[in-house]
Order: sequence, then structure tokens, then C-alpha cells
Amino acid sequence: MCGIVAYTGSRPALPVLLSGLKRLEYRGYDSSGIAVETPDKIAVRKAKGKVSELVNLLDSDEGALDQSTCGIAHTRWATHGPPTTENAHPHAGGKNGIALVHNGIIENHRALRQKLEGEGYIFLSETDTEVLAHLVDSKYEGSLVDAITSALGEVEGTYGLAAVAHAEPGKLVVARRGSPIVIGLGENETIVASDASAIIKYTRQAIYLDDNDIACICGSDLDIRSLGSGAVSRATSEIDWSADAAEKGGYEHYMLKEIFEQPESIRNTLRGRMDADRGNAILSGLNLSPRELADLYRVLIVGCGTSMNAGLVGEYAIEDFAGVLAEVEQAAEFRYRNPIIKSSDLVVAISQSGETADTLAAVREAIDKGALVSGLVNTVGSTIARETGRGIYLHAGPEISVASTKAFTSQVSVLLMMALKFARSRRMSREEGRQMVREIKAIPELVERTLAQNDHIAKVAERYLDCTSAFFIGRGYLYPVALEGALKLKEISYIHAEGYHAAELKHGPIALLEASVPVIALCNKGPGQDKTLGNVAECQARDSRVLGIVTEGDTEAMAAVDDYIEVPDCPLHTAVVPSTVALQLLSYHIARLRGCAIDQPRNLAKSVTVE
Ligand code: G6P
Repeated sequence: MCGIVAYTGSRPALPVLLSGLKRLEYRGYDSSGIAVETPDKIAVRKAKGKVSELVNLLDSDEGALDQSTCGIAHTRWATHGPPTTENAHPHAGGKNGIALVHNGIIENHRALRQKLEGEGYIFLSETDTEVLAHLVDSKYEGSLVDAITSALGEVEGTYGLAAVAHAEPGKLVVARRGSPIVIGLGENETIVASDASAIIKYTRQAIYLDDNDIACICGSDLDIRSLGSGAVSRATSEIDWSADAAEKGGYEHYMLKEIFEQPESIRNTLRGRMDADRGNAILSGLNLSPRELADLYRVLIVGCGTSMNAGLVGEYAIEDFAGVLAEVEQAAEFRYRNPIIKSSDLVVAISQSGETADTLAAVREAIDKGALVSGLVNTVGSTIARETGRGIYLHAGPEISVASTKAFTSQVSVLLMMALKFARSRRMSREEGRQMVREIKAIPELVERTLAQNDHIAKVAERYLDCTSAFFIGRGYLYPVALEGALKLKEISYIHAEGYHAAELKHGPIALLEASVPVIALCNKGPGQDKTLGNVAECQARDSRVLGIVTEGDTEAMAAVDDYIEVPDCPLHTAVVPSTVALQLLSYHIARLRGCAIDQPRNLAKSVTVE
């Protein structure tokens, strides 16, 4: 969603701000803007559309802002008011020369706006952020940090913010409640952002603000306070991935790069966590005592989007192998329906970004209700990772493409390890455990063999790119794969696609089948395959073309479908991964052939930080 970059230091601010904004574009945006200090005022420039529009606008300034060494910048994903230049950030506050950028939502913005209009403030935008800018201005008596502290006392809602004041050159004030702020510590300079990818080019030393922190920064001087409790010190951590990891590395799109990274990203997820001798998984982050493990009554998995689909694989595997009750639930639903939670329940929150608002709220609900709560998160230092305390990091590296790929396969890998660990503490023998370790360790190679089908998949995609609608069907472990396959296709190609349990197709969706509506069927060898092949025949009888995901060399399944993509022969709980990879590539090629904006699909955001 929205992104923040801010800079104070000794070099020109503009290139740092613009390169940061470009890095943040992947999160989803519709307009952007910058505010930099100049000797006579704070200069604000804003543009609708891509960051390149802002760059064009700045080019027309002919270098007027090039000398500035302090400024703030923003990419916006519209919530309050449409994506126009007026609504883009930064917003200026009143007459004191304050400019501010903000992520999050000011919930009491209407009441504050009314009050400020009564005081004579004139609003130029429809945003809640402009309310905050004027509110800060109304409190300003020479100290930006004091004015923001006072303003935030009146604000309900969430924010990550950065502000500058003309009267205090070289100074940035940043604050956080519910929306991340990371402070990158350079030599004689500080780069602030809402996401580490915008600072990694300049420094790996980072401080992640906690909720209610406010920091005043000048060059490399940093003073952090907690609203209401004075000065605090926050630990510095090292960002453990490089700037290269966030580059396209020769691929046409980040999505393709991330699909191809999966053998490596899964290896990184598994590294040090497989005990081949004991036939067990080492998940020290889970931090469950033998007693807690033995008493575990139920595993509740929460997440949104792709993370929720991965959770479904976890539900099946945990029940299947460990015999522990498991349920997956959409995080917003979990949060608002007052779920029954016991202290012997483990709530597993799955989130690539670690910032998804509904998943975070579900975590807080589960903590309040006394459950054991664990986060399965990719982004180090993210809010969910920190608040759960029992975190298992994916170590998949930065995922830039909005459509999630490598995070899913790492999430599934961790969930299989969890199932193994729970199973070994209950009913699985060491020998069976060793077998499962071998199966999990084989996943990266299964993915490699599937990636080798890329050219074939690109050709298959040509036959499906003109469809208006598509159904994905599967059973058992392959049902979540059908859901994830459909999600990928609709996200990036804008073809209407639905994932269904193969048995459910007859209960409604079959009415929609015709020649222009293909079915993608997960027909891998294993329990339920015969039934799915029966469903395939039903679809073909309604003129649908059927593309089957089939097991290598399974001639019977190949003969039953119109087109096929082969994936390696393996048990169904691991076949989830290569089968999903095949569908990722299928969606990618269909979207590419349709000329879609693959890495930044319309209306979508990488990290959904509002409810
Ligand atoms: C957004 C993204 C999806 C992602 C979902 C959950 O909708 O576009 O790709 O699966 O959020 O995000 P999370 O970071 O919590 O996994």
C-alpha cells in the first residue's frame, strides 16, 4: 500500500527519495509526491500515476531542488479521496511551512476537519492526512516534534508518518502507530522508510520503530521517544539481504524472477531445520515446551490471500500427520466473530509482509484471549513477527511482485515441518519421521524439475489466453492448490477465475461451463485422482477445454485431458509445491501474452495495511 521515504544528511536528498519511491512502487500506488527543504520554503511536487510521472515533473524544475539535503516522499494507494494530484502526499500544514506524509488511517478525521475549518484552515484535498498536517500546524510553536506529539494525542487511528518544518532545517520527525517505520542509519545521514527495501541501497543498519514511538532526526543524530513515556532506546538490527535481492536480475518481471528463485528460497527456508537422524523438524522459533506440545489441543491458522491458501495445506497436513485438530480461517473473520480460544490452542498467523492489518488484529485478539500465538512471517522485524514472539521466519528473501509466489512455497514448507514436529511429539515413529524429512528435503528439486517445463507451459498458455473465465479444481491437498492457482490467474491476468473443490463443481459452477470457459484440473496421482478424472470428463461433456496438472509419465491422466503439464512423482503433501509452481508459470505466461502489468496489477497492493 502507501509508501514513505525520508532523508536527512549531507548528500542531495532528491535522488535518494526518488530511488526509494521506485523501490516502493511494488507495494501498490496510484500517485506520488515529494517535499524538500529549500532556502525560502518547503517545495512540494506531486503527480498522479507512476513515479516516472513525478520524475518528469521534477525534470521541468531544471535542478531547482537539487541542492536540498532533507525531504520526505510518498507513494499513495487511495483510501480517502480518489487518486488525484491534490490528494497525493505530501500535504502542507497551514502557514508554518510544514509538510507531512502518512500511511494508515486517521479515523476521527471528520471531527478534526470540522474543528480545523472552524479555526480558519482551508483544505485542498479530501484526505485524512491533510487533517493531520493542519492539526500539527495548529500546535506548532517552534518545535515540530512537540507539535506532532501534541497532535497525535488527539488522533484516533493508525499512522506511520514523516514530517519536515521550514523553520527547522535538516530535521525530520517520524512516528509510528500500526504502520511500519524503519530508520536506516548511514554515515552522517539517515534514510527513513516504511519498508526496508527503500533503504537497503544505502545502509543495512536499521532501527524498527515500535508503536507509539516518535523520532526526531537531524543528519545522523537520532532521538527516539515513546509517546507518553519519554526517551527510549531501540535496538539496531542488520538487514540480512542485499540490494541485489530486490533487483530483477535480468528477468523481465519480478514475478518471474521470484518463481525461478524458489528452489533457493525453499532451501533457505529448510536450512538448519531438518534433523535427518531424528526424523524431526527443528523449529526453535516456535518455542513450545514439551508440555505445551503434549497439551496442544488445536492449531488455528489465520491469514489472508495467498497466505490463507498456504494455511489450508497446513490444516490438512497437521491433522493428517499429527492427529491434532487444525482449522484455517480468514483473519478478519477470526477477529470479528468472537472465536472460542483455549490456552491449549496454538494460533499460527501466516503473513509474507508481517503487516497485514486483519492478520495483525487476529494476532492481538488471540493474544488477548490467552492462546499460544506464533507468526509465520517473511519480513524480518515486521509487526506480526515482533508481536507474536514465537516467530518462524520464512527466509525467502524480499518478495517484490504483488502476486505472491515464493512466500507461498516457503509457507507450505514450514507448515509441513510443523506437521512433522507435532506428529513426532505424538504418534509418528522415528522411521516415518525420517521418511517425511526426505520428502520435505526433496521439494527444491521437485521445483527445479517443474521450472524446466517453463517453455512448454508458455506454449500451453497460448491456448488459454482468450478465455473469459476459468475454473480450477482439485481435491485433498490439491484443493488449496486450485484456490491458489485461481487467485494467481485473476490477480495478474484479470481473467475471472475461481478455485473449487472438484466435487463442488457440480453444485452450481458447472452451469457456467462452455467452450470459452476452460477448467484447470489437478489430476496428480494419488488418493482421489480417479474421482477428479471423472469430474474432468463431466467438464469436457460441457465443451470445456481441460488442462490437467498430471504426474510425470501418467499416460492415463494425460489421455484424459486436452492439454497437460507434468510435475514430478511425489506424495500429494509435497506435490502441492511443484503443482503450484506450474500454475504460477501458467498465470505468468497468460498475463504476459495479454500484455498485463504483471508486477503491479491494477487495484492491488502488496501489503494491505487497512481493514
Ligand atoms: C495482499 C497481497 C497478497 C497477499 C495478501 C496477504 O492481498 O496482494 O499477495 O497474499 O495481501 O499478505 P501477507 O503479507 O499477510 O501474506
